[in-house]
Amino acid sequence: MLLALGTYFLWLFTSDLWAVQAKDPDTDLSTRSPHRDLAPKNVDFAFTLYRHLVASAPGKNVFISPVSISMALAILSLGACGHTRVQLLQGLGFNLTKMPEAEIHQGFRHLHHLFKKESETMLEMAMGNALFLDRSLELLESFSADTKHYYELEALAADFKDGAEASRQINEYIKNKTQGKIVDFLSKLDSSAMLILVNYIFFKGTWEHPFNPESTKEENFYVNKTTVVRVPMMFQSSTIKYLHDRVLPCQVVQLEYVGNGTVFFVLPDEGKMDMVIAALSRDTIQRWSESMIRGQVNLYIPKVAISGAYDLRAILGDMGIADLLAKGADFSGITQEAQLKLSKVVHKAVLQLDEKSFMAPEFPMVMLDMASEPLTFHFNRPFIIMIFDHFTWSSLFLGKVVNPT
Ligand SMILES: *[C@@H]1O[C@H](CO)[C@@H](O)[C@H](O)[C@H]1NC(C)=O
Ligand SMILES: *[C@@H]1O[C@H](CO)[C@@H](O)[C@H](O)[C@H]1NC(C)=O
Ligand SMILES: *[C@@H]1O[C@H](CO)[C@@H](O)[C@H](O)[C@H]1NC(C)=O
Ligand SMILES: *[C@@H]1O[C@H](CO)[C@@H](O)[C@H](O)[C@H]1NC(C)=O
Repeated sequence: MLLALGTYFLWLFTSDLWAVQAKDPDTDLSTRSPHRDLAPKNVDFAFTLYRHLVASAPGKNVFISPVSISMALAILSLGACGHTRVQLLQGLGFNLTKMPEAEIHQGFRHLHHLFKKESETMLEMAMGNALFLDRSLELLESFSADTKHYYELEALAADFKDGAEASRQINEYIKNKTQGKIVDFLSKLDSSAMLILVNYIFFKGTWEHPFNPESTKEENFYVNKTTVVRVPMMFQSSTIKYLHDRVLPCQVVQLEYVGNGTVFFVLPDEGKMDMVIAALSRDTIQRWSESMIRGQVNLYIPKVAISGAYDLRAILGDMGIADLLAKGADFSGITQEAQLKLSKVVHKAVLQLDEKSFMAPEFPMVMLDMASEPLTFHFNRPFIIMIFDHFTWSSLFLGKVVNPT
């Protein structure tokens, strides 16, 4: 297991390390893990998408689940034809000469299964996709069969002529699927809507080393030079992995969730947020994971629920998947209806950060080494949060927290 922990970040690196990955003891060589061929592409896509969103929303929080967006777009590609289909898959980073489509979907299918398994054992994770279409439309058999086979996609009929009723139905569905954790998914639908792909994820991990709720105090959070807000600030003093980066102007701490989740909290120096975000890449994460030091740390992190909701069409258009917005987009693989217009690709991601532990709360008393004062990491100004699933090598969440309230 120790060896596994040591190697799990190698995937982030280039394919030179492929040979090493094969030795990962978690890999069952007899059944190769198709999802791992997707991982580097998905992570590159994740950082590109993140940068586009951050650039489009200066001074705002950003929060997405890149891997579930990749999956939603792969689903969509099954209903797209011709140029639209190729553009979608290339936009996700896949080279169709190197990786045939069936292999891509097979990889996502495997990934989907693993997440489902994880969410069943971890309780507090819900992730899924659903397609809502107007009652007057009928899905093509091949689309229906493929999306079920690879993604267990649920296709549901809604009455889009009554926009309020349709959005109520969609919101009910998501609320149910996420045990009430995601409510009011959609606000309003315009009357021309006929087809909506929804993609949602809720995650509330359980820290391997929980925070003591009694240590949580209300504190200042410095949003920018002129704005200060009050937030509940969690605290723990323990041995964790940290880094004062010498290359980029930031500090990094890495915490583990019970199970397969690992979190990087990145605190850029004041005014250096943009510079750090510009440098985020697989290479940077790889470098950080190799240079982390384990030591006694006083850690302050706001207790917050972070969420983001986006209609992804415009942002994906900016990223070169222009057909999603174009009149000529060809989604004739979904229904027979000519010129079917995709109304929205809605994504909502919610993360809850709190003190919780999964087991009965038990706070190991850490003996402080009095000879050296513990270092302090205080996340009381805008920071970056990244959650990876190290079993599937996926970028579960990327966020920029500017104002936690
Ligand atoms: C896809 O891969 C082929 C074969 O390796 C290569 O020749 C081609 O340039 C690649 N296409 C793109 C768009 O990267
Ligand atoms: C969710 O839907 C199922 C099946 O329709 C139903 O049995 C269950 O009670 C619903 N749960 C909630 C929380 O609404
Ligand atoms: C600081 O943040 C507040 C609240 O988000 C915002 O209204 C204000 O414009 C920001 N000021 C600067 C200088 O960015
Ligand atoms: C990690 O995820 C896999 C796949 O879902 C699961 O089998 C495994 O038990 C998880 N590992 C831990 C430590 O929870």
